[in-house]
Amino acid sequence: MNQKLIQIAMEMRNRSYAPYSNYQVGAAVETESGEIIGGCNVESSSYSLTCCAERTALFRAIAEGHTSFRALAVATENGGSPCGACRQVIWDLCKEIPVHICDKKGWVKTLTSSELLPDAFDDSDLEPFNKLNV
Ligand code: THU
Repeated sequence: MNQKLIQIAMEMRNRSYAPYSNYQVGAAVETESGEIIGGCNVESSSYSLTCCAERTALFRAIAEGHTSFRALAVATENGGSPCGACRQVIWDLCKEIPVHICDKKGWVKTLTSSELLPDAFDDSDLEPFNKLNV
């Protein structure tokens, strides 16, 4: 378990912009080089445009030039689990990593990406079709 990663995910809850749900979520991803990049949920008045904390952290990490990840932590008040959309993005960008799920007091449980999203659809499904295009 990565205490520093969990600590930053918990701190990122304070950056949450969640005026509609009042559900503050923080996340942090550890890059291959050992850097930790945080994210929080950012809500929209047009609810469906909201971006979850996990995706904010991962998209921020990608935008900062990171391409390989070791672990992710997500922190909520009550230990809520990553949503389906985030499970897909975690699998796409990280493949198999530990995902630490935390409540406001700290760590609750750790699952791997494939436990969160078994039998995932991913780039390997698209490979035969990509070959046709080159
Ligand atoms: N949320 C996350 O940030 N991550 C998840 O995996 C689940 C849901 C956010 C989205 C929205 O801002 C709030 O929690 C309530 O759904």
